[in-house]
Amino acid sequence: MASGLVPLSVITASASLPETYRWLRETWGPVAGVELEPGVNAWLVMGHPEMLELVRNEWVFSRDARNWGDYRDGVVAPDSGLGPMMFYRPNVIGADGMEHRRLRRPLDDALAAVDQRQMRRAVERTCQDLITAFIHRGHADLVSEYAQIVPLLALAEESGLNPQEGRDLLETLAALFGSADDAQEGNRRFEEILARLIRARQANSANDVASSLVRHPDLRSDDEVLQSLVVLISAGQQTLSAWISRALWLMLTDPRFASRLRGGRLGVDEALDEVLWRDPPMTHMPARYALIDTELGGQRIARGDALILGLAAANTDPRIHTDAVEREIGNRAHLGFSAGPHQCPARTPARLIARVAVEQALHLLPRIALSIPAGTVTSIPSPWMRHLASLPVTFTPTSDTALNPSVR
Ligand code: HEM
Repeated sequence: MASGLVPLSVITASASLPETYRWLRETWGPVAGVELEPGVNAWLVMGHPEMLELVRNEWVFSRDARNWGDYRDGVVAPDSGLGPMMFYRPNVIGADGMEHRRLRRPLDDALAAVDQRQMRRAVERTCQDLITAFIHRGHADLVSEYAQIVPLLALAEESGLNPQEGRDLLETLAALFGSADDAQEGNRRFEEILARLIRARQANSANDVASSLVRHPDLRSDDEVLQSLVVLISAGQQTLSAWISRALWLMLTDPRFASRLRGGRLGVDEALDEVLWRDPPMTHMPARYALIDTELGGQRIARGDALILGLAAANTDPRIHTDAVEREIGNRAHLGFSAGPHQCPARTPARLIARVAVEQALHLLPRIALSIPAGTVTSIPSPWMRHLASLPVTFTPTSDTALNPSVR
């Protein structure tokens, strides 16, 4: 691959993704060389058919980072910022073939058993509690005070933790993303809370995700149960938070949605769909690693090369779109959740949580409006996501007793 490639984080942060992808396609075709960090390059797959080929052919493109040449050869430092998203971990995400299917079945079964109505009620309660904490104030940041918190509390409750344990888990996450010393301690406490839950469900089964995993015959050790629970809670956290924030931003700023808002609940599902098409939570998803020398989208891929899933780019591949993306509303053939054996197992619960979170904010905060110009919202720098840094809003301050039944 050539040197002097565009850093992936620059592509992700570009003011207009469609224009950047158009330029990259003109230069490279559907698969472009990009830089992950100085000295570490990868392929960004932007074509829709190439993406499907990448994620469906696991005998050519492995999910296991131990097949990544730069990782194996020590080109990537052990403390590289790429580690959290790209390094190998012994869980479903890093497995291929039969081993992947064995670790994946328990997740699919646990998620399929989730009671949707019960979950909806629990998420509504969580949203109302969060809104109660700031509704008297007349202003809030819907990213840090809401979208970042709802997913973890919802996933924790679904897993089997009570609200206080969910809050404890949230605190450990704050530590995890804090200083290096805190991070280790945060990780230990995060796993300890989940290990305690697993021991409790081994003693007494309940109707929750943890119990389903504990009972599952495909999981062979307590550690596999723990890692499955860790993946289920952590994989949904940032993705859901980004989806909720972007959908709220769209509904607050785009006249098509703003006018629907006044009419009631219409529009939330359409906003969620539009975000998945135009600006999916995982803009660029790591990664697959070539097991052999091969070819993709006209590029020669060498064994050990890393390939990044350009999910946002594939959604707007001009070869599959004859129309504007917004005409696709209601069509869920986007690649926001990827495809193939590793595609996200949580589309249904993820949509439910995101829909309830957006609905509750829009309907409980009277006269809600963005408090800065629409075009000035910024994203947290990252090669992978365009998560909004904040979403400051104003609304008519209201007594929290209107919302919180416990203080009525
Ligand atoms: C309830 C919330 C969620 C949970 C529990 C969840 C869980 C997971 C898990 C366990 C995987 C790994 C699957 C495997 O390797 O076999 C995964 C993959 C993925 N998820 Fe989710 N997820 C959630 C929400 C989301 C959201 C909101 C999005 C974005 C719209 C998303 C996008 C993805 C993508 C792109 C992958 C990668 C697929 C690949 O590598 O091909 N997820 N998710």
